[in-house]
Amino acid sequence: MPKTRSMCGQLTRENLGEEVLLQGWVQRRRDHGKLIFIDLRDLSGLVQVVADYEENAHIFREVEDIRSEFVLEVSGRLVLRDPETVNENLPTGELEVRLKSLEVLNTAKTPPFYIEDHVDVDENLRLRYRYLDLRRPEMYAKLKLRHRAALAVRNFLDGRGFLEVETPMLTRSTPEGARDYLVPSRITPGSFYALPQSPQLFKQLLMVAGAEKYFQIVRCFRDEDLRADRQPEFTQIDMEMSFVEEEDVFALVEDMLSHLYREVLGREIPTPFPRIPYPEAMLRFGTDKPDLRFGMEVKDITPVAGSSGFKVFKQAVAGGGVVRGLNVKGCAHFSRRELDELTNYSINLGAKGMAWFLVTPEGFKSPIVKFFTEDELKGIKGILEAEPGDLLIFIADRPEKAAPVLGALRLHLARQLQLLPGDSGEHFLWVVDYPLLSYDEEEGRYTANHHPFTSPVAADIPLLNTEPSRVRARAYDLVLNGVEIGGGSIRNHRRELQEAVFSALGFSPEEAREQFGFLLKAFEFGAPPHGGIAFGLDRLVMLLAGSSSIRDVIPFPKTARGTCLLTESPAAVTEDQLKELHLLVREAEEEEE
Ligand code: AMO
Ligand code: AMP
Repeated sequence: MPKTRSMCGQLTRENLGEEVLLQGWVQRRRDHGKLIFIDLRDLSGLVQVVADYEENAHIFREVEDIRSEFVLEVSGRLVLRDPETVNENLPTGELEVRLKSLEVLNTAKTPPFYIEDHVDVDENLRLRYRYLDLRRPEMYAKLKLRHRAALAVRNFLDGRGFLEVETPMLTRSTPEGARDYLVPSRITPGSFYALPQSPQLFKQLLMVAGAEKYFQIVRCFRDEDLRADRQPEFTQIDMEMSFVEEEDVFALVEDMLSHLYREVLGREIPTPFPRIPYPEAMLRFGTDKPDLRFGMEVKDITPVAGSSGFKVFKQAVAGGGVVRGLNVKGCAHFSRRELDELTNYSINLGAKGMAWFLVTPEGFKSPIVKFFTEDELKGIKGILEAEPGDLLIFIADRPEKAAPVLGALRLHLARQLQLLPGDSGEHFLWVVDYPLLSYDEEEGRYTANHHPFTSPVAADIPLLNTEPSRVRARAYDLVLNGVEIGGGSIRNHRRELQEAVFSALGFSPEEAREQFGFLLKAFEFGAPPHGGIAFGLDRLVMLLAGSSSIRDVIPFPKTARGTCLLTESPAAVTEDQLKELHLLVREAEEEEE
């Protein structure tokens, strides 16, 4: 028997006649009475093993007992299959191994689903048996893709003189806009560590420490509502550099992503990436993460609508609102039901209604056409570049309410009309010129759009006290095909400026010192100017893999309710553990509305 193991999927004609040793899992067993076929699978792929009663009488009983997912060690001679049994779809499809010896290394229960690609299995079942799910080749390919992406990034950054530095997991709150996961301290009763929402403060302290070029592929924790592209724990490619400005960060990132796409997918991506100011993104796409794979840009007809005789539009504009619309190309054939569905979709998103025009060779068709003059209709036609066959839809509202509805409608229609073919390339986009702060009506104060450590644009600093909402941030987001894959900023490195930002955020000097005193103090010891960015590795790999869910590229993800079905966490702990941690658990309260 050969001593070294061969890999099932790598056997070729060159090995014909050799006696090979294989180890792997049984993909399938087909019993033809005196002939039994076993598809044996390992990481590399499949090969067919044949047991023939005549040749294998002494072990035939054992072969008959073999079931799917048994773990086997087999040896046998590699031969060509009969021409009529060649499987064209399998790389080893013209070969088979004539069984000589067999050892069952382990038995297996019948798996709850087929270990095969493209099978339609309930995701919860897959998550409960993730170790079986990950046996499927497409899942392994995703793990591998993730590994290669991380490796490409590490190699690239190492080559540019970056140092990977680990930062603490048990730390203080690092505000990124989500709730913290807290860890109670046993030694200091009543005190808690927070798991990092990002390594933001530590990477800035590393700049004060003179590290100059830092990166880390690092786990972050955020207790927030989960969606298809969010997980409570996720991985960032986190970077920070000293003595840089926006242009330096952009150039480095564009080089890094070019390297990544070349290494991992063998694809060139066009650089430099286009840039768009935040206000323009909101106006043209209704979102700060525009998907540029298709057109259908939002158009503004406020001036025309405001003077029209249509009350809904007129009143909206008179009240400081806007009227904006989309040209849904070639969709004048939409039925009343389809239009009602779109209207309901808009209303569910918070719109008060949706108006529409069908563009026909004879002109516009709509119950509200009569409220517009010929000139107004011409104006609308011009702004939306309407042609016969098009459908125009309009939302009238305050600008901050109209934009997200139109943004969502644009995406909804693109999906419905299949304007997003699977492989339409990479459309990267820098979004810049964000406002530093937004007013939070509920909290009655300003909050940071990125995080409180982002520097205002120098020219806008005097506005911090007078008109905070007009202050622009030195922040940037990177968007890929409508997904925010990264975000960062140039930071405050002087104590006074950081204090001024805290003050605009409504922190008293005492509160600022209490929470971030260590950072403010560090800034007094020669903090260099610095800036950086962090990428969502999971999101990036999701896009590299062409997946629609972040869970597909995370080996052991959590469900939308934040649970791990495999280990059944979170879970209760014992009274003793609670006592040691000085904790008392309150009865779960009814969630307040
Ligand atoms: P930000 O909060 O924008 O910036 O996070 C950076 C990137 O991390 C990804 N991301 C997530 N991915 C999966 N699940 C989540 N819950 C999740 N939250 C964020 C996104 C996002 O663009 N410290 C700053 C960076 C900096 O300023 O340098 C930060 O964390 O892709
Ligand atoms: P109404 O006069 O409220 O019956 O509305 C007449 C038409 O205008 C209906 O088709 C509504 O869906 C539409 N509409 C109502 N409110 C809005 C709005 N805020 N924006 C756009 N269309 C609207």
